[in-house]
Amino acid sequence: MIISGKELSARLKAEMAIQVATFPEKYGRVPHLVVVLVGDDPASVSYVTGKAKASEAVGIRNTTVRMPESVSEHELLEMIAGLNADDGVDGILVQLPLPAHINEAKVIEAIAKEKDVDGFHPLNVAALWQKQPCVLPCTPKGIIRMLKTAGVEIAGKRAVVIGRSNIVGLPVAKLLLDENATVTIAHSRTKDLASLTRQAEILVVAIGRPRFVTADMVAEGAAVIDVGVNRDPETGKLCGDVDFAAVEPKASLITPVPGGVGPMTICCLMENTIECFLKRCGAE
Ligand code: GUN
Repeated sequence: MIISGKELSARLKAEMAIQVATFPEKYGRVPHLVVVLVGDDPASVSYVTGKAKASEAVGIRNTTVRMPESVSEHELLEMIAGLNADDGVDGILVQLPLPAHINEAKVIEAIAKEKDVDGFHPLNVAALWQKQPCVLPCTPKGIIRMLKTAGVEIAGKRAVVIGRSNIVGLPVAKLLLDENATVTIAHSRTKDLASLTRQAEILVVAIGRPRFVTADMVAEGAAVIDVGVNRDPETGKLCGDVDFAAVEPKASLITPVPGGVGPMTICCLMENTIECFLKRCGAE
């Protein structure tokens, strides 16, 4: 079975649109998400455009602030301070990666934790690891949602996550653990990766290498979640970290690229924006 993130996210966005349409009467306005894009990396521009389109579909007000690649860290921090202080802004997302002269950790920490729709602020990360209420990072949240919607029983399963990034690998491992999976995090230094991944009943791949996971690395019947967004070196087309054509016949469930995890990430960003808005309105 192929899990279409595109279809699931379309359904969820339609439901959110109905909910958001009730907000002007209840709260006097709709949620407002501000996305900050530094420079013009084509992949980042495309992600930011996707976020603006989804906002429009859901009825969330979206402002994209574009800053030149040469912007100083100080200017970016000033911009964030202004957005933090602006009562009409509910969510702030700074598109990553940032240029090398800007300290990413400093920028993430500057975002008000109540407006941190990415769930990247150290206080939100700490809350996640202590099982306290927090904004969940969008990609991991979307992955769990897809597994559950597809009827995958996570509790008691052996889950392997390839990748240990702050954005995906670490938080998705924690969310799988919270669902009572037995989780192993693998990475570039893992020895005999294939023998480990072959034991996985749930395999999440987030390493950013085109078609890295081949059929011999996957157990028959595994649920395979492909977080990769790569350019195929031969065709130039988008492809995942999993060799989809070879792995699909073995997997019980698999997510395609494009149309899998990506749309679910954006959908969860919409949810997080609504969540931050409602909290700021004192609704929950
Ligand atoms: N770059 C790649 N993924 C993400 C994400 O989820 N949030 C932000 N802010 N930047 C990203």
